Amino acid sequence: MTTLGTPLSPSATKVMLLGSGELGKEVLIALQRLGVETIAVDRYENAPGQQVAHHARTITMSDPAQLKALIEAERPHLVVPEIEAIATPMLQELEAAGVVRVIPTARAARLTMDREGIRRLAAETLGLPTSPYQFCDSLDELQAAIDGGIGYPCIVKPVMSSSGKGQSKIDGPADVQKAWDYAMSGGRVGPGRIIVEGFIDFDYEITQLTVRALDADGQIETHFCDPIGHVQVSGDYVESWQPHPMTPAALAESRRVAKAVTDDLGGQGLYGVELFVKGDLVWFSEVSPRPHDTGMVTMITQWQNEFELHARAILGLPVSTVLKSPGASAVIYGGMDATGIAFDGVDDALRVPQTEVRLFGKPESFTKRRMGVALAFDADVETARTRAKQAAALVKPRAA
Ligand SMILES: Nc1ncnc2c1ncn2[C@@H]1O[C@H](COP(=O)(O)OP(=O)(O)OP(=O)(O)O)[C@@H](O)[C@H]1O
Ligand SMILES: [Mg+2]
Repeated sequence: MTTLGTPLSPSATKVMLLGSGELGKEVLIALQRLGVETIAVDRYENAPGQQVAHHARTITMSDPAQLKALIEAERPHLVVPEIEAIATPMLQELEAAGVVRVIPTARAARLTMDREGIRRLAAETLGLPTSPYQFCDSLDELQAAIDGGIGYPCIVKPVMSSSGKGQSKIDGPADVQKAWDYAMSGGRVGPGRIIVEGFIDFDYEITQLTVRALDADGQIETHFCDPIGHVQVSGDYVESWQPHPMTPAALAESRRVAKAVTDDLGGQGLYGVELFVKGDLVWFSEVSPRPHDTGMVTMITQWQNEFELHARAILGLPVSTVLKSPGASAVIYGGMDATGIAFDGVDDALRVPQTEVRLFGKPESFTKRRMGVALAFDADVETARTRAKQAAALVKPRAA
């Protein structure tokens, strides 16, 4: 049985989000609706999620001492990582000591923040299909890995990075040095290790949202959302839609792979499993142990969007992944470096039929920073894609 308390009272069910960007904001809204007391943590003030939570805290989440002090002071029932750049070994320590429960588990948060941890688990321990890969600590090792079998084209990524930072494609020998230098500048923890991956010439890529929730007997049950198709530019998502058509064999294989990875990572909550598909072949790429950016489309396509699914699953509540309508999302970028920007044309955007707009409320805009998203639904997913893109283009950021 799940019992929820009253926020701001001794009975409160307290949940702390580590990372309070646009994805965390929606998880917080879902928790608020269930009367959960929420603590939104980020590295800067007035982060999107902090604007909708009971409490806002600003710390350096990659600093183990700061993280420990905050968790011990607040004593949340659940700690929900929403970003990768967190002192996850400290979360493991606190979880092991019984101080707090980490969502989905501290081990999942630790393994997935580092491409090496999750890739070795998927390919070497679980035997799942992935691109050929090698880890390298120097330019010489990179060249040797390519010559030794990875070949061209290939992709270089810092092991600690996300959203395409420091990531580039190598088409031939002339690109190797450039890719190495770029990776060294883009890692989360400064210069370090990279992964070089053989380039997969996929037909399309999907996110398989996978939910581990409790059934009526208190046992973990795995639920799958309809596949989400998406377009990535320089490692960053610009457009997504749901459902993406798949052959029955590719769909079954995607779910087998998603289940194998999420079974191993364990815990309760929603995972975003990234997969490449060519015909009936499926390759595991990576996994987020939390809502996925491409899954923002579910705010218009599912009865319970990915954030509500996450909130319910972590609290031990039942979930439903049923689709409400096909639909699409398109990202609204800042287009400039400025603080406190304004958005013209939201009215024009919302005149596009069957659309919605979300503005995240980020205090500072960067040219390539995601500031909002346009959503559209339609029985025809291509129509929804066109409308989401139209609506996104009609929102015009400008300096205030
Ligand atoms: N081996 C590969 N072959 C072909 N394309 C790839 C390969 N690896 C990555 N990509 C492309 O680059 C995109 C980003 O890669 P990946 O997901 O590993 O990086 P990321 O920085 O974690 O991105 P994000 O945080 O946005 O998910 C993929 O979605 C895919 O489009
Ligand atoms: Mg990715």
